Amino acid sequence: MLRMTINGQPFETDAQPDTPLLWVLREHLGLTGTKFGCGAGMCGACTVHIDGEATFACQISLAEVTDAKITTIEGLSETGDHPLQKAWIAEQTPQCGYCQSGQIMRAAALLANNPTPSRDEITEWMQTNICRCGTYPRIIRAIERAAT
Ligand code: FES
Repeated sequence: MLRMTINGQPFETDAQPDTPLLWVLREHLGLTGTKFGCGAGMCGACTVHIDGEATFACQISLAEVTDAKITTIEGLSETGDHPLQKAWIAEQTPQCGYCQSGQIMRAAALLANNPTPSRDEITEWMQTNICRCGTYPRIIRAIERAAT
């Protein structure tokens, strides 16, 4: 049995240890805010926090997150009022929306370590997360808004 904490709740599973965390989040727990994009560690749509670190859930196995604290977009705030979520709404950031959970989780890890990043630091940090709609300027503005 593999044990971990997901969004503050204990979770245990007898799934195969090499199962990608993303699969368990979406298919076993219904936490579908975390998206499947490329499945190859190249897009960032599946970004979650593992012990506070922004991580691609498609690229990490259950065995690697045993005893870890995992946070998904559903667990970022209890009522959807994390400063980044409010800023995302204020800036009307999403277009199709598919990548945005991953974008917010990536940004949340940045602000947790650097509450007032420069524009260059934001741009560099967010390079791992692709948006095919090209919402990058609004993503940056939302992060700046949340950081102030
Ligand atoms: Fe995980 Fe693209 S789905 S990086």
